[in-house]
Amino acid sequence: MAKLDGRVAIVTGASKGIGAGIALRLAADGASVVVNYSRSADAAEHLVTTIKRAGGHATAVQADISQPDQIKVLFEKTTAAFGHVDILVNNAGIYEFGDLASITPDSIDRQFALNVKGLILATQAAAQAFPATGGVVVNISSGAGVTPIAQAQAYSATKGAVDNLTRSLALELGPRKIRVVGVAPGLTATEGTSGMGEEGAAPFIARTPLGRIGQPADIAAAVAFAVSDEGGWITGETLQVGGGLRL
Ligand SMILES: NC(=O)c1ccc[n+]([C@@H]2O[C@H](COP(=O)([O-])OP(=O)(O)OC[C@H]3O[C@@H](n4cnc5c(N)ncnc54)[C@H](OP(=O)(O)O)[C@@H]3O)[C@@H](O)[C@H]2O)c1
Repeated sequence: MAKLDGRVAIVTGASKGIGAGIALRLAADGASVVVNYSRSADAAEHLVTTIKRAGGHATAVQADISQPDQIKVLFEKTTAAFGHVDILVNNAGIYEFGDLASITPDSIDRQFALNVKGLILATQAAAQAFPATGGVVVNISSGAGVTPIAQAQAYSATKGAVDNLTRSLALELGPRKIRVVGVAPGLTATEGTSGMGEEGAAPFIARTPLGRIGQPADIAAAVAFAVSDEGGWITGETLQVGGGLRL
C-alpha cells in the first residue's frame, strides 16, 4: 500500500512549476489529487492525464485562489469528485520584482491577495472540510520569508506573513489534529523563474552550498514527507528546502 492511499489532496496552483511537481509526487504516493489552476487549463489537464496514465487519480479544478468565492467552489468540487479532503497544499503564489520606486499599490494588493489572503481562506475552508480525524496543511513559503530579496519587498513580506501564519494556524488547529507545516524553497527551476536565465540564477547558485538551483521534485519530496505519517509529529515549523541558500 502506498503511504497516501485513501487520502485526498488539493494542491493550489498546480498546473505548472512547484505545484505540478507536488501534485505528481502526492499522486505517485497514492493520494487522489485535485490539480487547481487559475488560467492554464491545458497544462492542468495535461498533468491530470500524466497522473492517470501512471495509474494515479486526479482531476483539474479551476479556481482563482485570490477570490474567496472561488475557494468555496474548489472545495465543493473536490468533495463532489473524491468524497472528502485530507490534505491542502497552499502553493499558489505570485512574485513581482522591482525597486521600491517602481512598486505600485496594485502589485502589493495582487501579491497579498493570493499569497496571504488566499492562503488563509483556503486553510479556513480546509479546516471546515477535513474529517474529525484531522488533516494536514502545507504552506509553500520561500527562503525570502526569512532572508528577504532586495527588489522583492512585497513578495518577501508575503512569505514572512506565511511563516507567521504557519505558526499561528498550527497553534489553533493542533487540538483538532490538523497539522500546519511550512516548506520554503530556495530558487527553483519553474515556468515562473525561467525568465531569469542562467545569468539571473548565477548569484543564487554562488550562494548555495550544494551548488545548483532546485527542481520541483526536490520541493515535492519535502512536501511528501510533511504530509505523510512519518511527518506526523511536526507542526508549526517551516522547513528550508534550498540547498543551504538561506545560510
Ligand atoms: N520558483 C521559485 O524559485 C520559488 C522559490 C521560493 C518559493 N516559491 C513559491 O512556490 C510557489 C510556486 O512557484 P512557482 O515558481 O512554481 O510558480 P509558477 O511557475 O509561476 O506557477 C504558478 C502556478 O500558480 C498558479 N496560479 C497563479 N495565480 C493563481 C491564482 N490566483 N489562483 C490559483 N492558481 C494560481 C498558476 O496557474 P495558472 O497558470 O493557471 O494561473 C501556476 O500553476 C509560489 O508560492 C512561490 O512563491 C517559488
